[in-house]
Amino acid sequence: MKSSFAFSSLSFFVLALGSVARVNGELNCSSIFVPVQVQVEAPFINLTVPVNQSEVTNLIQQFLTVTSNIAGKSIVGTQNISAHYEIFGKLCTPHGVLPNGTLEIATHGVGFSNFYWDLGGDDSPNNYAASAVAAGHSIFYYDRLGTGNSSKPDGIQEVQLGVEVEVAHGVVEYFKNGNAGISFGRIIGVGHSVGSLVTLGVTQTHPTDFEDVVLTGLAINNTLAVLLSVSSIGSQIAAQEFPERFGDLPNSYLALEGLSNLQVIMVQFPFFNQSLIEFSFQNTATFTIGELVSLLLVENVKADKFTGRVLVLTGASDLPFCGGDCSQTVGDTSVTLVEAVQIFYPAASNFTTFVPANTGHAINLQDSAPESYAFIENWIGSANDDTVIGVSLVV
Ligand SMILES: *[C@@H]1O[C@H](CO)[C@@H](O)[C@H](O)[C@H]1NC(C)=O
Ligand SMILES: *[C@@H]1O[C@H](CO)[C@@H](O)[C@H](O)[C@H]1NC(C)=O
Ligand SMILES: *[C@@H]1O[C@H](CO)[C@@H](O)[C@H](O)[C@H]1NC(C)=O
Ligand SMILES: *[C@@H]1O[C@H](CO)[C@@H](O)[C@H](O)[C@H]1NC(C)=O
Ligand SMILES: *[C@@H]1O[C@H](CO)[C@@H](O)[C@H](O)[C@H]1NC(C)=O
Ligand SMILES: *[C@@H]1O[C@H](CO)[C@@H](O)[C@H](O)[C@H]1NC(C)=O
Ligand SMILES: *[C@@H]1O[C@H](CO)[C@@H](O)[C@H](O)[C@H]1NC(C)=O
Ligand SMILES: *[C@@H]1O[C@H](CO)[C@@H](O)[C@H](O)[C@H]1NC(C)=O
Ligand SMILES: *[C@@H]1O[C@H](CO)[C@@H](O)[C@H](O)[C@H]1NC(C)=O
Repeated sequence: MKSSFAFSSLSFFVLALGSVARVNGELNCSSIFVPVQVQVEAPFINLTVPVNQSEVTNLIQQFLTVTSNIAGKSIVGTQNISAHYEIFGKLCTPHGVLPNGTLEIATHGVGFSNFYWDLGGDDSPNNYAASAVAAGHSIFYYDRLGTGNSSKPDGIQEVQLGVEVEVAHGVVEYFKNGNAGISFGRIIGVGHSVGSLVTLGVTQTHPTDFEDVVLTGLAINNTLAVLLSVSSIGSQIAAQEFPERFGDLPNSYLALEGLSNLQVIMVQFPFFNQSLIEFSFQNTATFTIGELVSLLLVENVKADKFTGRVLVLTGASDLPFCGGDCSQTVGDTSVTLVEAVQIFYPAASNFTTFVPANTGHAINLQDSAPESYAFIENWIGSANDDTVIGVSLVV
């Protein structure tokens, strides 16, 4: 399988970087390690592991220099990656889960691990997984490759988007093959930020994996905004900044610098819960040099064989993808940066956008989370209007 995030024509510097009815009340969650065998032709990134912070900072500076063409220079051909990974995640189902129901597979973004999807505990309004289960859906939310309890391979060649797409595909196969002991009738891909890019990549390389997809915290055509956030994240060598948590990791694994870096990129003030953002910083996960470089390849994506439905839900003040204002339009058109995502999906059966107000990049941290969740779960459920899943949704 050839990676969607493979180098093709990178001729210029692009993107350098309600209420829902409850079923049976509580969630039934269990932790799983999913074994994934990956076989993928991915970009070969000709960079070496930085020896110190000064080299990392230099790399970020090259990344931000509009004429440096770091992707063009560092991606020199492809390589075949064949590897086995263990992917950690949590499977939550409604009590007495119905056979042939809906499973959401959720992929988090940079700075987070699986905890992004269950912030604040079972009864929290910021718990995405609980809202999915309350809508009668099951959900598997996992630690992306290189984060949390999942495998932590080479942070330049392996922890990059093209490989992560195959990891997500492996997770889908695991459930489709019934390895979790439950069979599902539909599988929906749900992503946040880089997790949305991973989900998008799956719809390109494995167009029948997901019935429908929900891409949150995503917009396109604002390269400057992406640069701004790469700059604002304050990339530090993870092992040096958090030796007690990441001391064993190579210098290709990075972490954001402080709580303020998280706030500036992820949320709109003051519409967020301070204790949840502090929790997020205490539990912040690493990202890698391979991920930063492969972010530059997004423009090569075209999911033209995906015929399911697509929902893009992005906060009105999203910084990393909209530069803080998602009402901006593309060129001379009236198409917003969020609506522009449709260009990747010429064959989708439905393309819907939702832009919650007073909301930044990390939807789940904002006070608007319940509104976003209601929209998402009802949208997922709306495909089933004429089928029976035994749950009625009320907005
Ligand atoms: C990788 O980069 C080094 C310089 O950093 C260069 O000497 C070498 O030729 C490059 N390798 C390839 C395959 O381009
Ligand atoms: C970091 O390593 C480079 C060698 O690549 C060296 O030139 C530089 O002085 C080092 N910086 C620090 C602060 O140690
Ligand atoms: C990767 O494997 C494929 C299929 O076996 C082969 O066609 C391709 O040339 C290989 N690529 C590299 C860079 O070795
Ligand atoms: C809870 O989920 C597990 C699988 O994750 C399943 O085996 C078990 O039957 C479920 N329990 C209830 C009460 O639904
Ligand atoms: C913020 O989240 C914490 C943890 O879930 C919760 O205890 C607290 O009540 C929340 N605060 C507000 C103002 O919602
Ligand atoms: C890793 O798994 C253990 C239980 O197996 C759990 O206690 C811990 O919270 C997990 N770590 C993360 C980052 O989810
Ligand atoms: C399972 O669900 C799918 C999609 O919701 C539906 O097309 C299929 O007919 C269902 N199969 C059974 C055996 O109920
Ligand atoms: C918008 O972004 C897409 C995907 O990267 C690209 O194909 C398209 O040319 C861009 N359009 C404009 C007007 O920048
Ligand atoms: C797409 O789906 C939404 C929500 O289900 C619906 O309101 C809208 O009419 C659909 N759009 C088209 C063009 O079918």
